[in-house]
Amino acid sequence: MLAVCPGSFDPITNGHLDVIARAAAIFDEVVVAVGKNSTKSYLFSADERIELVRESLAHLTNVTVDHLDGLIVDFVNARGGGVLVKGIRFAGDFEFELQMANLNKLVGGVETLILPAASQWSTLSSTLIREIANHGGDVSGFVPEPVARRIRQRSHGKEPSDG
Ligand code: PNS
Repeated sequence: MLAVCPGSFDPITNGHLDVIARAAAIFDEVVVAVGKNSTKSYLFSADERIELVRESLAHLTNVTVDHLDGLIVDFVNARGGGVLVKGIRFAGDFEFELQMANLNKLVGGVETLILPAASQWSTLSSTLIREIANHGGDVSGFVPEPVARRIRQRSHGKEPSDG
């Protein structure tokens, strides 16, 4: 069976990586859907986010990465159906995921499986990684190596992206 892990991944963190690897161990195939959350301002462009997710997951042979445009249920159903897999860290995540899971079931007939974040990463967020990165801090303990490398390159003189 197919699992789809959606997110904006700006950037992908060790917490995302953990949830995706666990989904890959449970399901035959996993597609990571990299979308855009209109309420967020981005550190990386859509193409960079996809590239960094691909590099970070290269060791997982049953995982592929694709661009998400439109509704996530349409993305899943266009691939012949599957289950959404979401990681949750704390109660706030659960409340929002519960709302989305119910709507995604009603609107598109797609089920959601919720995995608890590993305790090690249970308070990690891309938002805080962006905050540290924007101030030149070291994020290498919290993100996959391709992301840490790209952030280091940025802080050595490259312009931030607005995509
Ligand atoms: O990492 P994020 O910011 O939580 O990711 C959000 C994203 C892009 C996965 C989410 O906004 C999404 O699924 N967008 C597609 C539109 C959609 O289907 N929304 C859910 C309706 S219940």
